[in-house]
Amino acid sequence: MIIPAVTPNATYDFADEVRHGLSRRGQKELPSKYLYDEVGSALFEVISYLPEYGLTRADERLLRRYAGEIVDRVPAPVAVAELGSGSGKKTRWLLEELCRRQRTSYYPVEISRSALDMCERELRDIDAISIVGFEREYLDGLSEVTTYRQKNQRLLVLFLGSTIGNFDRPAGVKFLADVRRILDPGDFLLLGTDLEKPAEQLVRAYDDELGVTAAFNLNLLARINRELGANFDLSQFAHVARINRKARSVEMHLESRRLQRVKIPAARVTIEFQEGETIWTESSHKYSAMEMFKTAREAGFRCEAQWIDAEWPFAENLLVAA
Ligand code: TRP
Repeated sequence: MIIPAVTPNATYDFADEVRHGLSRRGQKELPSKYLYDEVGSALFEVISYLPEYGLTRADERLLRRYAGEIVDRVPAPVAVAELGSGSGKKTRWLLEELCRRQRTSYYPVEISRSALDMCERELRDIDAISIVGFEREYLDGLSEVTTYRQKNQRLLVLFLGSTIGNFDRPAGVKFLADVRRILDPGDFLLLGTDLEKPAEQLVRAYDDELGVTAAFNLNLLARINRELGANFDLSQFAHVARINRKARSVEMHLESRRLQRVKIPAARVTIEFQEGETIWTESSHKYSAMEMFKTAREAGFRCEAQWIDAEWPFAENLLVAA
């Protein structure tokens, strides 16, 4: 079952945020959540198979190998909520392990309807599972999930794939604190974090040889053309992945190849781009394993356990609400 979005004005919001982000005086930007329409979600699926992008596979390896250990640390009865479920593929291992112990309610929260559909199709064959998906932003969706939990149930919230890294560090702590406020003491948060690695490896991971990541990023402009009637010429923008050493992040940009003007009718604006000017679309922050203990504490959690992949440095952190 899927609880659909209650946003009759979604196009209007999109137009509004596009106008805002592109009319800014300094660095132009577009919110990364809009990368994931049907095309974007499918392209991201492909990214997760690229040899250069080890993140998703590391995440999945850890969840598969340690599902039993992770689940053993969370006392039953448990209900599971997932923020940004994506296809649901890597969540299978945890859910199967849980469903062996108890009937399990699983509540994926996703703004992408197509990802929610994919996720439900992927997981509905698991024995003793009930799935209720929420087409919502993370915090709204999570609040709604808590109205479904039974009194004696603990919530295990999954925030996998290092999506936390798409916030800058202070905003990441704030987001975790917001999650914490929705939870009860003793609830759990399983948080995936991508760990620091050499710059060349990171640039390759975010600017792959085949150009899938470039297509994924450029799809945002294609989406603005499709949904807001804009006239972006995609051949006049280039995907750029840049290391920001100070922030310990990779920044994704779309760089204008020349001076150009783009009309976005539904947003009621025309935007001028200088040659070499960029639109910042997303950043992916990288962490040290140790800093998660402090980050957890700052947000009102305690980091109880950590599992780290040996092949592609990535950590699953099990946090308990203090
Ligand atoms: N947020 C994910 C990450 O940081 C997804 C991602 C992979 C991504 N490649 C990207 C987002 C390129 C924007 C552009 O790894």
